[in-house]
Amino acid sequence: MKKIVDWIDERIPMTATYNKHVGQYPAPKNFNFWYFFGSLAMLVLVNQILTGIWLTMNYVPTAEGAFASIEYIMRDVEYGWLLRYMHSTGASAFFVVIYLHMFRGLIYGSYQKPRELLWIFGMLIFLVLMAEAFMGYLLPWGQMSYWGAQVIISLFGAIPVIGDDLTLWIRGDYVVSGATLNRFFALHVIALPLVLVVLVFLHIIALHEVGSNNPDGIEVKKNKGPDGWPLDAIPFHPYYTVKDIVGVAGFLILFCYVIFFMPEGGGYFLEPPNFEAANPLKTPEHIAPVWYFTPFYAILRAVPDKLLGVVAMGAAIIVLFLLPWLDRCKVKSIRYRSGIHKLNIAQFVVCFIALGILGALPATPLYTLLARIFSLGYFGFFVLLFIYSKNEKCKPVPERVTG
Ligand code: HEM
Repeated sequence: MKKIVDWIDERIPMTATYNKHVGQYPAPKNFNFWYFFGSLAMLVLVNQILTGIWLTMNYVPTAEGAFASIEYIMRDVEYGWLLRYMHSTGASAFFVVIYLHMFRGLIYGSYQKPRELLWIFGMLIFLVLMAEAFMGYLLPWGQMSYWGAQVIISLFGAIPVIGDDLTLWIRGDYVVSGATLNRFFALHVIALPLVLVVLVFLHIIALHEVGSNNPDGIEVKKNKGPDGWPLDAIPFHPYYTVKDIVGVAGFLILFCYVIFFMPEGGGYFLEPPNFEAANPLKTPEHIAPVWYFTPFYAILRAVPDKLLGVVAMGAAIIVLFLLPWLDRCKVKSIRYRSGIHKLNIAQFVVCFIALGILGALPATPLYTLLARIFSLGYFGFFVLLFIYSKNEKCKPVPERVTG
């Protein structure tokens, strides 16, 4: 065995890379619950890629064959139902995990210097993930697939001058059609997953270059022992490989519960209208995107003008990219930040969840009014943060991690 390892090491830095990123990666010793979600995101990514490959073996990417091929997978392909439910539940699980992962970054200030680029890579992952989920949703060619795509693609038509040509270019037709389905299939199964994997790779490289943040928001690299090892760090393996298995076990219990006992997720993971084949002549009464898009959809609908709505929705995402520069406080972790910051984060969470609920409901005058109020709260978070973070009154940050 040693001879084989030596032979490889003389040709590529296998052992050195393993040690740098796993065996001797100095991880802060105070990682908590919130630090499970990075490894879980990787697990879900692998699940999506593997189940996706096997689904592709029986899926037919044509307007005539798509819906029937999904029925075929569900009823006739051996364990096809399991593959499909793992993939559809995996899509929702991905967003649950990613939203919690991003929230951790938010409360512990993990986006702050020197982790800005790590955050940017994360946000690019989030963008690509949204595109990936949107395109995947068209593939079953159900009513909601069809009309959801119709609504979202038509938004590009609001862009001045190039809008109409752009929508035509995206659809490849004058309406959502087999041509659209075919190109979305190509992007969903190969182009975007490739981009995602590359971005996740860059995300981890960026993380390991600067080192992990932790719940105290202290740079563990600043306190090194005589041997050069950070005093508040432990090797990633075996400590966090083992700890992450606990997170994986907890996650799999919930994941399997959904797959085996409520695969439709109460109509939120697989929506009822999508059990009916796409019909261009019959518009569903109420078109709503899947739950993970609804906060942004609610912001879009809160603005009366179509173009301004699209701008607001885009701004809601762009502003997240700018977070490292909007937060001007030197203290990272919520543990040592001011009461106003804690309140601001709390109201942001309330607004985000409220927008998520409103985005799934029909746009009545009352709901639209509420969506406007919560949209203000959403953007208000960033404006207020920018204002108070400059001279924020924080508690003293300890020298060493507290546990
Ligand atoms: C496929 C999606 C993603 C994967 C597989 C992934 C993976 C990881 C992993 C394994 C870690 C280290 C373990 C941990 O801290 O939990 C990490 C850290 C981090 N990720 Fe992600 N990530 C993803 C998406 C995102 C997104 C969307 C963001 C935010 C926009 C983000 C921001 C961060 C930050 C700021 C850290 C450092 C946290 C700290 O050290 O406190 N990630 N990511």
